[in-house]
Amino acid sequence: MRTSNYLKENNAKRLWHPMAHPADSLANPPDIIVEGEGVEIVDVDGHRLVDAVGGLWNVNLGYSCEPVKQAISSQLNRLPYYSIFRGTTNDNVIELAEMLATFFAPDGLSRAFFTSGGSDGVEIALRLARQYHKIRGEAGRVKFLSLKKGYHGTHTLGASVNGNANFRTQYEPLMPGCFHTPAPYTYRNPFNETDPERLAQLCLAAVEDEIKFQDPSTIAAFIVEPVLGAGGVIPPHKSFMPGLRAICSKYGILLIADEVITAFGRTGSWTGSRHWGVQPDLLCSAKAITNGYFPFGAVMVSDAVAEVFENDKSGKAAIGSGYTYSGHPVGAAAAIACLKETERLNVAANAAVRGDELFAGLQALKAKHDVIGDVRGGEGLMCALELVSDRVSKAPIDKKTIGKVHRVTYEAGVMIRVSGNNIILSPPLIISAADVAKILSALDKGFSEL
Ligand SMILES: Cc1ncc(COP(=O)(O)O)c(C=O)c1O
Repeated sequence: MRTSNYLKENNAKRLWHPMAHPADSLANPPDIIVEGEGVEIVDVDGHRLVDAVGGLWNVNLGYSCEPVKQAISSQLNRLPYYSIFRGTTNDNVIELAEMLATFFAPDGLSRAFFTSGGSDGVEIALRLARQYHKIRGEAGRVKFLSLKKGYHGTHTLGASVNGNANFRTQYEPLMPGCFHTPAPYTYRNPFNETDPERLAQLCLAAVEDEIKFQDPSTIAAFIVEPVLGAGGVIPPHKSFMPGLRAICSKYGILLIADEVITAFGRTGSWTGSRHWGVQPDLLCSAKAITNGYFPFGAVMVSDAVAEVFENDKSGKAAIGSGYTYSGHPVGAAAAIACLKETERLNVAANAAVRGDELFAGLQALKAKHDVIGDVRGGEGLMCALELVSDRVSKAPIDKKTIGKVHRVTYEAGVMIRVSGNNIILSPPLIISAADVAKILSALDKGFSEL
């Protein structure tokens, strides 16, 4: 490794960071993380922190997951790459697809299409949805619906269904045929409704209204996160996802669950769909599928959708989509080891218990610090604090103040993620009660110094 002086001096000089302004990265060089162990990371100065971000919602099993590391290194020695485009495959993807079919059976999903990550998966799911309708003779079903505040990755189709202007405006025009409906976000919504159940019903009514307005026979799919993540952790009322499933079924619209964050235990259930008791038609998974150690993803397909493709005799079901790294043998080896370890450790159960502790602790912080306008969570280990300069007007806190909370919390030994006026927490699912206490006390310090 280069010396810390070299790293600090060159930080952000020659690379552009994703989701950052290049000038901001130059003015405020990023923290340089050089080691990870358990649920902790270490920066270039040797400062050790509990990673309350869990990498980027993906390092569910922490940084010392030996089975995944071993699987990657032995697969690199045995077969570092081969493609699974038509005509060839590898042993790992065959085994992994079988394991995933078992894992996702309660969600009604049985076939896997492998990708290199979440954005790739979203793109594939949206394409397969259109293709499904074409095979069935409904070629006019090409539109997509999604929620405002939703995040579906960075590719152009994914950005088109994205519900956050920050990821759209500078890249417009985006894809035609994508329409958005209000999110079940109790703190701010166009209905001025604070009751979660009533808001869920209003949001569902807006979905149905939009479907009728567009004409159901033009809509291919609704894509949705079971708990909105990057948009600021927005858990819907428990009636929302079942209601959405019912509306999609009523109008012949496919339901795509974007579970890039929620698959593999984060909500306290093994999938976000199962958490709400719904079965999607397609599901996008990535991130924790390899514990973040290798870029990989799997789009899961329901029996009913799969049969339409597999029984096609017209040739329309030939899949004209795929990535060089689809089904990468090293990624697949990592995913096999990761899935075994995820189940062995029963991390979903820990996520539920620790998530409740974290959520309760954050609510106590809200009672103490006026700057916290809203606390969201209660569905496993994904929580957010929305910071405001005034609780009545709900004016978002300024960048400098939230930056100060971030810095003091960092110095107190906890890494948190700032996104707009939200603090987002998504720690590894293996965290202990002591780690939760440390996250809360570091945040308390951060707020106390304002
Ligand atoms: C719900 C959701 N979908 C898609 C993506 C995109 O995944 P990736 O960054 O792996 O391309 C993300 C990333 O955070 C996500 O949270």
